[in-house]
Amino acid sequence: MCGIVGAVSANNIVPILVQGLQRLEYRGYDSCGVAVHQGGELRRSRSTSRVAELRTMTEDDGVASGTGIAHTRWATHGAPAVHNAHPHFSRGQIALVHNGIIENHDELRDELKAKGYVFESQTDTEVIAHLVHHLYAGDLLEAVQGAVLRLRGAYAIAVFCRDEPGRVVGAREGSPLILGVGTESGTQADPTARYLASDAMALAGVTDRIVYLEEGDVVDLQLGKHWVLARDGERFKPTEREVKIVQAHSGAAELGPYRHYMQKEIFEQPRALADTLEGVEGITPELFGDGAYSVFKNVDRVLILACGTSSYSGMTAKYWLESIAKIPCSVEIASEYRYRDSVPDPRTLVVTISQSGETADTLAALKHARSLGMEHTLTICNVATSAMVRECKLAYITRAGVEVGVASTKAFSTQLAGLFLLTLALAQVRGHLTDEQEAQHLKAMRHLPVALQAVLALEPQVVAWAEAFARKENALFLGRGLHYPIALEGALKLKEISYIHAEAYPAGELKHGPLALVTAEMPVVTVAPNDALLEKLKSNLQEVRARGGELFVFADDDTKIESSPGLHVIRMPEHYGALSPILHVVPLQLLAYHTACARGTDVDKPRNLAKSVTVE
Ligand code: M6R
Repeated sequence: MCGIVGAVSANNIVPILVQGLQRLEYRGYDSCGVAVHQGGELRRSRSTSRVAELRTMTEDDGVASGTGIAHTRWATHGAPAVHNAHPHFSRGQIALVHNGIIENHDELRDELKAKGYVFESQTDTEVIAHLVHHLYAGDLLEAVQGAVLRLRGAYAIAVFCRDEPGRVVGAREGSPLILGVGTESGTQADPTARYLASDAMALAGVTDRIVYLEEGDVVDLQLGKHWVLARDGERFKPTEREVKIVQAHSGAAELGPYRHYMQKEIFEQPRALADTLEGVEGITPELFGDGAYSVFKNVDRVLILACGTSSYSGMTAKYWLESIAKIPCSVEIASEYRYRDSVPDPRTLVVTISQSGETADTLAALKHARSLGMEHTLTICNVATSAMVRECKLAYITRAGVEVGVASTKAFSTQLAGLFLLTLALAQVRGHLTDEQEAQHLKAMRHLPVALQAVLALEPQVVAWAEAFARKENALFLGRGLHYPIALEGALKLKEISYIHAEAYPAGELKHGPLALVTAEMPVVTVAPNDALLEKLKSNLQEVRARGGELFVFADDDTKIESSPGLHVIRMPEHYGALSPILHVVPLQLLAYHTACARGTDVDKPRNLAKSVTVE
């Protein structure tokens, strides 16, 4: 999704801007651009190709300056085209980049058109550039303050003016923006430099001194100094924001022997789980932060808020929380919850789950829950420096490492590990976990990396199935109980990277409608653990076979489900109890991955999708 980098420096800043964009590339984008102050005017390069192409353009054109802004765009308003790519200019005087969505852009556009402004793009961003220009009377900071007061929606912006070289102004509301303070070391080695970025990762290796701007902040960057202004209603007041030392990872992980990041990340799961569980000597609420015990003592229910894959880990956790910790749990899709009327209960533990920690819908749902008086908040998140972690009282940081592939894999399995720990901690506080049970669960968790290696060894068998899947246009996924969310995750993986239409159902629901879809042309993928529902599931498989449907079953070794005509079986290890979903999701990830490879899609950057969904 969109990314911002901006800077003022005593040195040429263009290589840092472009490198920053490269570090944000994994989030997904369809165009990119950079603008600088050079020779007393604004200069810009924009491309609908990759950032590498943008780098070549800037080098060929001799674009160099100490003041500039850059952007990767993920189209919302207007097609992915050069004229819609950021930075946007206003009358050769103002250059601006923007993340987010401006809801009142039509109204502002009409107003600005009436004042004679001509629009070259279909973006909501160009509206902000013209608005800043319209309000500019010699002081960029004042113009930006005036402009943001007129905006409705979400924004992070970086802007500079032809008449004020050495100055970049930023502002944020609803979209993340950070300020970087230059240091003697790092790639730029300029302590007078000041940077803006939508994500600290963009500045990895450049500076580790980061200020997280808060909602409504406006920031003024000049050589060797910066000021933050906090919004207070219709006014802005100077404020101090702490400079934190943050070791951001560059994210530019090597592919090694793998064809794609997704494949690499699937195979990294044993290590990611081992890292996530490292240091967990025993179950204690304090794994989730100081004060967790008193929070856990004071809650009677759990509300999980998340999107996409993260919501499926939440759905899995619901089964654990209700059966092991005996605490009622509801799981809500964040984009729905934030807008619906619900009945709040202050004795609720609100749990957000997010790989990126920047998902706009989840952040907004969290805010909404808090506005309803639910103050006990906890996040399971993979990015320690993210907005989600900063916004929640308690946190468990998964250690999946940087996930580059848009399709989430290792983030999901490590979320499940974090959620299982949460289940055990709540069970302990509520008196539902004996020492013996704790020891057994911990033993099973510690063995997960080894168990996962055995599942990953199934890859050649999955490749053989993928060849058949690649020729299909539809697929059904079935699971029951704890493994229904795993079937949902398998279907999501297949559709997002192979573009095959896939739906998941609880297997018992088949006869209530979807069975009508079953023909010899419909592959039916089934997750078949040897749990209490196995015999019921076997009956559901019979229903499919009786209609000529072709079954592809991932069956635990001890299920006694054997291959026969129309029934293909890949044998999983023996049943892994409550943690079985963490094993069963892996072959589904591999199936989606190899099917996508066989269809020749862009596995790591599937069409229309972004890694970090920072707009509504
Ligand atoms: O960063 P988050 O976990 O909050 O992201 C939520 C979803 O956007 C994400 O899981 C998405 O569904 C993935 N592309 C799925 O593979």
